[in-house]
Amino acid sequence: AAYEQEITAFTPENIEELEQYRIKFLGTKGIVKALFGEMKNVPNDRKKDFGQVLNRFKLLAEDRYAAFEDLKNTGAKGAANVDGTLPASPLRLGTRHPISLVRNKIIRIFERLGFSIAEGPEIEDDWHNFTALNLPENHPARDMQDTFYVSRNPDWMLRTHTSSVQVRVMEEGKLPIRIICPGRVYRNETISARAHCFFHQVEGLYIAENVSFADLKQTLYHFVQELFGADTRIRFRPSYFPFTEPSAEMDISCFICGGVGCNVCKHTGWVEILGCGMVHPNLLRNCGIDPDKYTGFAFGMGIERITMLKYQIKDLRLFSENDTRFLSQFEGAV
Ligand code: PHE
Repeated sequence: AAYEQEITAFTPENIEELEQYRIKFLGTKGIVKALFGEMKNVPNDRKKDFGQVLNRFKLLAEDRYAAFEDLKNTGAKGAANVDGTLPASPLRLGTRHPISLVRNKIIRIFERLGFSIAEGPEIEDDWHNFTALNLPENHPARDMQDTFYVSRNPDWMLRTHTSSVQVRVMEEGKLPIRIICPGRVYRNETISARAHCFFHQVEGLYIAENVSFADLKQTLYHFVQELFGADTRIRFRPSYFPFTEPSAEMDISCFICGGVGCNVCKHTGWVEILGCGMVHPNLLRNCGIDPDKYTGFAFGMGIERITMLKYQIKDLRLFSENDTRFLSQFEGAV
């Protein structure tokens, strides 16, 4: 009880007094430790009561110490000396990465059209990354995407596109399908201002009855108007992908110069932003979907490319270098 009184009355004037208190009550040779050491001499039937009293005493001693702990930081006497009206030191928030910003924008546009998000593994097997997508073994188009294989087993690889996720969703067999697949993909390319060994994609897939190329066009037209502005026009150029037939690459009118000609569009007035097409019937068959009943469209775009266009970033490597001089330029962007 005498100690309790001493503790409650304790009001240190300076750090030294506080430290003396700590040594006396809370130190390794202090009173609290010593009392706990007495436990072994207490008869068993009184141990419980004694322990409770001790614990309460220990907390009391610790709380009193904690109440004056800011003496150590400020040298001042307790909370009474803190000026609560002073402005706090600024709290630097991080910024969203530009790739995340653009990915979220893309996702939000397609979500409003009723697309849901599908994700899948980054380490894929040959079936989901290639074979099911109408790229059987020895198909020359496999060379279009320089693949990283995982270990010596050629059946395992880092996915080269998120089309593998589309295969997984098609295999589940729940129709209609309306998904977008955002995610990181890997290709064995020399790192430069325009290429990297990994990048990010958003691919889309819509499969239902009577889906036509007109649906594809209208969906993508709406998309670019939302992302790049209402004046944006689109054009399709015939192309080739093993998983779509017919296939196309889509350009948008240059949103910098409006099509007149500038450095971004290299004075053509157009910039390419994605590949697309009608889902090849072989794919549907591979995934157990009846191609006589269902048709679909698919598209795929690189987020880095779109981000570079949108923010006029000239070097792809900036995205993965974590240089805060670059990243902080996106402060406050959502
Ligand atoms: N998977 C293609 C790529 O990664 C993109 C694509 C998707 C093209 C769907 C057409 C249709 O390059």
